[in-house]
Amino acid sequence: MQALITGISGEVGHGLIKKLHSQGYKVVAADIKEPEGEISEYIDQFYSCDISDKEGVDKIFEEKHFDIIFHLASILSTGGEKNPELAAKVNIEGTLNLLEAATNQSLADKKAIKFIFPSSIAAYGIPNLKVKGERKKVKEDEYLNPITIYGISKLACENLGNYFSKNYKLLGEINRDNLIDFRCVRFPGLLSPDTVPSGGTSDYGPEMIHAAAQGKNYECFVREDSRIPFMAMADAADVLTSLAEAPKENLKSFVYNVQGFSVSALQIYDMTKKFFPNFEITYKINEERQAIVDSWPEDVDDTNAQKDWGWKPKYNYKKTFSEYLIPKIKQRYLTPDK
Ligand code: SER
Repeated sequence: MQALITGISGEVGHGLIKKLHSQGYKVVAADIKEPEGEISEYIDQFYSCDISDKEGVDKIFEEKHFDIIFHLASILSTGGEKNPELAAKVNIEGTLNLLEAATNQSLADKKAIKFIFPSSIAAYGIPNLKVKGERKKVKEDEYLNPITIYGISKLACENLGNYFSKNYKLLGEINRDNLIDFRCVRFPGLLSPDTVPSGGTSDYGPEMIHAAAQGKNYECFVREDSRIPFMAMADAADVLTSLAEAPKENLKSFVYNVQGFSVSALQIYDMTKKFFPNFEITYKINEERQAIVDSWPEDVDDTNAQKDWGWKPKYNYKKTFSEYLIPKIKQRYLTPDK
C-alpha cells in the first residue's frame, strides 16, 4: 500500500506518519520543508514540492501510483490573515491540483484512490457570542459562514473534494466508480507534545502547555473564557486512519465533525498548573485573533462520526494531560535534542 502525505512537517503529519509506517504503508511525502528528525526514518521518498505548483504535483503522480492520499498541507487561520492571497493559492489551488492529479490517476488505473482531507472548526462562523453560548453543539450543516480565508478555503475544498468524488464532468462519459473516494473531517484545536503549531489561532492551547513544560510563563492572546473544542494529537492520527478504513457503504456523508473535549483557555491553564505548579499566565488580548476564536463553535456534535464509522476519542480532557501530554512533554524538554 502506497500513501502520499502532503504537509509532512506540520503537526498532524508527525503523528500520522508513525501510524502509517507501523501499519506497513510505504509513505511518499511532499512538503516545501525537508523533513527533520525522527519522521525522516519513516519516509520512503520525499518530494520537495509546493502544492500550488501544478507541474510539481503532476510530476509526483507521473512517478508514483497511490492507494491513499492524506492532504495535510495548509496555511492556518492566523497565518492566512497575514497573506490571504497566498493562503488562497496554497489552500485552494494546491488542493485543486491534488484533486485533479488524483482523479486522473484514479480514472487511468480504474481504481478509486482514497483522498483524506482534514478540514477544521474554522469552516464555521458563529455570528456572535450570544449564539455561540446558546447553540453549543454545532452540527455539520450549521453556521457555515467562516470569517477567515483559512475557513473559507477549507469549506471550499470540502465541496471541491465532494464534487471530484461524485459529479466530476457531470456531462461526461465517466465510470463514476473510478472517481476518487473523498472523505473529510473537521478537526478542533489539536494538542501535541511533539510539535508547537505555527500560524494557527487555537495555538494558545498548545503554546501554554509547552511554555509551562519549559519553566516559562505565558502571555495568552485570548480571553480566559474563550472556549472551543480540542483533541489530543494521538486521537487526531487515529481519526484519519479510522476514517480511511471505514467501509464506504457506511459513510452517509463526506464531511464529519470530530472532537475530544470542549474547554476554555482558563481550564487549560488550571489543568496545566496542576502539573507545573509554578506556571503563571497573563492575558494580552489580540482583538483580531479573539474575533476568530469567538467565531468558532464552543463544541461540535460528532454523533454522525460515532454512528457511521465508530469514532470515539481515546483521550478525554484529563487523560489527554495525565497520560499523553504531560509524560511526553516532560521527556521532550528533559532531552533537549529531541
Ligand atoms: N488549528 C487551526 C487554527 O488554529 C484550526 O483548525 O488555525
